[in-house]
Amino acid sequence: MTATSPAEVSRPAAPEEPVVLDVRGLWKVFGPRAERVPGSALAELSRAELKERAGCVAAVRDATFGVRQGEVFVVMGLSGSGKSTLVRCLTRLVEPTAGEVLLDGQDIRKAGDKELREIRRHRFAMVFQHFGLLPHRRVLDNIAYGLEIRGAAKQARYARATEMLDLVGLSGYGGSYPDELSGGMQQRVGLARALAVDPEVLFFDEPFSALDPLIRRDMQQEVIRLHNEVGKTMIFITHDLDEALKLGDRIMVMRDGAIVQIGTPDQVVGAPADDYVRDFVSEVDRAAVLTLRWIMRPPRDDDPQDGPELGPDVVIKDAARTVLRADRPVRVVAGGELLGVVTGAEILEVIAE
Ligand SMILES: Nc1ncnc2c1ncn2[C@@H]1O[C@H](COP(=O)(O)OP(=O)(O)O)[C@@H](O)[C@H]1O
Ligand SMILES: [Mg+2]
Repeated sequence: MTATSPAEVSRPAAPEEPVVLDVRGLWKVFGPRAERVPGSALAELSRAELKERAGCVAAVRDATFGVRQGEVFVVMGLSGSGKSTLVRCLTRLVEPTAGEVLLDGQDIRKAGDKELREIRRHRFAMVFQHFGLLPHRRVLDNIAYGLEIRGAAKQARYARATEMLDLVGLSGYGGSYPDELSGGMQQRVGLARALAVDPEVLFFDEPFSALDPLIRRDMQQEVIRLHNEVGKTMIFITHDLDEALKLGDRIMVMRDGAIVQIGTPDQVVGAPADDYVRDFVSEVDRAAVLTLRWIMRPPRDDDPQDGPELGPDVVIKDAARTVLRADRPVRVVAGGELLGVVTGAEILEVIAE
């Protein structure tokens, strides 16, 4: 299909939210005298060479990116690419080796113990793969746990926990113990617990990979729904491309500790940065991800001016019927401006791939 450069396919003029988490030159090196690696000649070595010569693993290499207010920011990559380490560095569950992590402009790496505890209790929350529920506590007490640590009074924390229980669709289960619930339900409790503290940023580390595919799909829907309802900034790790495409406003692809690409789902699928990303997205149903912007051609003088109109961000699959039924080119229009035209030929080229 038509190869369009990512620059041409800059997203529409949605107002950009401010960056909440600004990560600059972040490194995490495991191994002896790790701090000598960033910025030195060692940093240029391949994974195998670094291990061989210095006995170190660079789990995160010089990562620079910003997470915007209210977005779902997906971190994707094969197992071992450094996703968990990166995200743990952001909360300092793992101490970074070098770089900056700015939360609303404040460098988390410079925070003292007390300050760090405050940030973790009030501004961040995590959802883990293996749920991390306390087995001897009832569901309601698990959800209320973060509030209890903060010193919230019993009545207040139960009220909030009950609200969260309802929000995740588990009304009535507050008195159960975690092992009385299915995996999907336990992860709903994990979600409720994270939301209970009303964090600024929610972190998810492959939260659904232990669940059956159908339950997993339900839970992805649940995250989308909750995101629409509570509008939190979410950083979501996954190795599953479908999950990344479904949930991500933007996707950051990692390989061997380094960032390979950051882009919207259609950018990652339509203009993969290298063979690694191309391989990742090779099986994707492109018509379900790419938009008309990716396949429209420039208008010609002899094109009829009275074809149907569609926006540039309509997904190809959703536009197919209109375009294929029209007896003239569909005009791709935004803000009254004609950006291009699409005909059946462009649609079929993608669908037939
Ligand atoms: N505590 C540790 N000590 C040494 N190496 C580690 C440690 N934690 C992670 N690693 C290594 O860092 C790399 C990235 O791991 P990880 O962040 O868990 O990747 P992912 O979450 O993408 O699967 C892997 O090679 C892993 O073996
Ligand atoms: Mg991991």
